[in-house]
Order: sequence, then structure tokens, then C-alpha cells
Amino acid sequence: MLPFLALATVLCAAAASKLPLGGHVSNTRQAAALTSSFKWTSTGPLIGPKSDSRKLAGIKDPASTAQASGYNLAYLNFTDFNKADAAAFYYLDQSPIGTGYRAAPQVFYFAPQKLWYLVYQTGNAAYSTNKDIANPTGWTAPKTFYPSQPSIITQNIGSGYWVDMWAICDAANCHLFSSDDNGHLYRSQTALANFPSGFTSASTVIALSDKNKDNVFEASCVYALPGDKPSYLLLVEAIGSDGTRYFRSWTATSIAGPWTGLADSEASLFAGASNVAFSGTPWTKSISHGEMVRSLTDQTITIDPCHLRFLYQGMDPSASGTYNSLPWRLGLITQTNSAC
Ligand SMILES: *[C@@H]1O[C@H](CO)[C@@H](O)[C@H](O)[C@H]1NC(C)=O
Repeated sequence: MLPFLALATVLCAAAASKLPLGGHVSNTRQAAALTSSFKWTSTGPLIGPKSDSRKLAGIKDPASTAQASGYNLAYLNFTDFNKADAAAFYYLDQSPIGTGYRAAPQVFYFAPQKLWYLVYQTGNAAYSTNKDIANPTGWTAPKTFYPSQPSIITQNIGSGYWVDMWAICDAANCHLFSSDDNGHLYRSQTALANFPSGFTSASTVIALSDKNKDNVFEASCVYALPGDKPSYLLLVEAIGSDGTRYFRSWTATSIAGPWTGLADSEASLFAGASNVAFSGTPWTKSISHGEMVRSLTDQTITIDPCHLRFLYQGMDPSASGTYNSLPWRLGLITQTNSAC
């Protein structure tokens, strides 16, 4: 059975404790196991705000807590997605991560240091570390990856926002991706041995861009595919012609790119309303900010291309209001046309 894992802060410790940190995914499988067109089936909403004194509007970017006053992070653990809604929340503002703007977390085990890293946005790209994923009080206070916003981002961000940091390492280097809500995906690089130091203006490049900012918007994530040769999958959230969210996809043989389109258009998309089946009336038209369920928990950020599952945020299509107070909930899509 495949693990959990993905939920950035919805860090299913369950998965972490149940699953080996080493992999069980065959090492000989080729990236060719990925299909070039995708079909999915979705659950209903699995995780939403609790009825408690926090009075949250949404649970999103698994797992930011959202309300009109702003964002922070939540941790929960479970062993079965169908029981996820019963898991208690631990609000991470009670840990040394603290209160204030913290959002869009990613979590992984950095094997060279035997430490868990939580990567998130605070206006800069921030991280905390923890020796024990099952102890949400154990996260360290935020530190930033960059001394300040890299100049290439400042030059290109326009009226966008610097959001959605994502780390992934290969055998030699670690890479930090981020988006600007203005048509650019950025990548910075440092040596594996230097992580988490060494991300600078000079090491930052534009990894992907589009003149139409809606086409390369935000919530990007990069995964390693198992196999004899290096192979990677990039997902980027886009805004469709009707305003709903969907994901585009690319592959590459290096995390540094270049990225080749896989299912990368609104007509042939990775995941969105047009290729996700629901039972009954769809509870959401957007397939928005999410994460693949991983097959490994370490810094390689590896997934099993034969059993794709994506934990995403969706929303009642009739909901309205300011962006921070929208009622995002988390659901899970599972690929139904896997090639293997
Ligand atoms: C993890 O889940 C179990 C079962 O619901 C719960 O008893 C435990 O307190 C949770 N751990 C944390 C750290 O929240």
C-alpha cells in the first residue's frame, strides 16, 4: 500500500510511521510508465476546517489554514484518507513556527542530516526543521533560504506575489522552486552538501514562463520518477478560461530542465474539471493547489507513476467572497487510466 505523504503540513505522520523511509518502488521502472493523457476519479471533500474557536474559512495548499485575517499552518495525522476528517488538528502557530503569515507548506525527510524540513512562504522562502515528524511541537523557528528576494524575481514579478516554494534534491544538488502569480516559475540551486544554505540571487533562474500569467500561475511541484535514468515530472497550476483552476504537466531528464510538455494545455490537461470524474454532482470545479501522494518521504520527492494520487484543494462552485475567506476543502483524485 502506498503511503501518504504529501500533505505538507497535513503531514500524515501516519504514513510516516507506517511506511519505510526507504522505497518499495521498483528501481527498474521507466518514466515511460507515465501516461500522456490523464483521467481521474475524485473523492468528495475529505478534510475541512473544524468547528472550533479558530473559525477558519478554509484548509488549503495542504495544509494552510485560511481566514480573512490571513494564513498559518496545520498538522494532522491519519492512516486512511477516508478517516482523515476525524484526525485532530495541531495548529502549528503553537509551535516555535509561531503566528503570522506562514503558508503553502511542503515537508520531506532530508536524509543527509537525518532531519525533517518544512518549507513554506512567509513573504520570503522559509523553513523549519524537526527530528521527529510525529511531534508537531518540535519544529524550529522560521529561517529563510534567501537573504532577500532574488533580483530576477524582483525584475519579473510585476504586481504578482512570491509564493509556493518547493524543494527537491538530486544526487548532487538541491533545487528550490517558487512562483510569482505573474507567469514565471523560478528555480534556485545549491549543492546537496550545502543545503539549506547557498540559495542566492546568482543561483536563481526562470525555469518556465508564459506571457499569459494564468498559464504559469502558482502551486508548482516537481517529482522524481523511479527508473534507471533520471526523470522528473513538473506540475503547475493554471487558471482556465472560465476562471477555475487546473494543472498542467511537463517532464524532464534533469531538475534543471528543459521541460517538455506532457499534458500541458487547457484542452489536454493534467488534472481539472474536464478529466476528473465525481460521483454525483461535482463538489468543486477547480482542481487547485495540491500534492502527489509520494512513494518515498526523502529529499528526492519520489512518486510511483503507476499509482498516481493527488491531494488537492477544491471549493463549492457557488462560494464567493474575498480570496482568503474562500471555503477550500481537501479532496483526493486517483488516476484511472494508468499505463501500468
Ligand atoms: C496522531 O493520530 C493519533 C490517532 O488519531 C492521535 O492519537 C495522536 O495524538 C496524533 N498525533 C499527533 C502528534 O497529533
